[in-house]
Amino acid sequence: MADKRRFDLFADLLVERFPSASRIFDVAGGQGRLNEALTQRGRTVTTFDLRHKHLPVRHYAQRIFTLDEPCEAELVVGMHPDGATRVIIEYAARHQLPFAVVPCCSDNGMPYNPWMRHLQELARTSGFPHVEERTLSMDGRARVVLGAFVA
Ligand SMILES: C[S@@+](CC[C@H](N)C(=O)[O-])C[C@H]1O[C@@H](n2cnc3c(N)ncnc32)[C@H](O)[C@@H]1O
Repeated sequence: MADKRRFDLFADLLVERFPSASRIFDVAGGQGRLNEALTQRGRTVTTFDLRHKHLPVRHYAQRIFTLDEPCEAELVVGMHPDGATRVIIEYAARHQLPFAVVPCCSDNGMPYNPWMRHLQELARTSGFPHVEERTLSMDGRARVVLGAFVA
């Protein structure tokens, strides 16, 4: 069972690290709990996921997030986004946006630590000059990979 605190902890980190990002894409956002947490912090958030049953958040795009999604955000994020992890980084790179992901499972069976290294390397080779890692104070997969074009 994933830690229920993860949405507030991640939302706090995002607001602290990216204070000027007011429009946020929350990719693979499940029920929309991160959307709710970020909305409470004054952000405008669109969640992308396939869930029929979700919270009554203002913007919920019930579809798979792809590189073709029109860019209406200043930050792209994902909490435990499974198969959407790489596309978050690639999309952010394409649109020169910052990103933050809290990876869990890889999309190809790669163990966790190599997966984390792979994602950081993907960010660097995609053009991000600033790639950093933080850790949320919670149980379970808590390491965050962040990328930005300005420090
Ligand atoms: C482990 S769940 C995490 C959900 C939520 N972020 C949370 O922490 O509870 C992974 C979610 O990723 C979604 N997902 C995977 N690939 C996706 C994609 N390309 N676009 C949108 N959602 C995706 C799945 O539908 C699923 O809801």
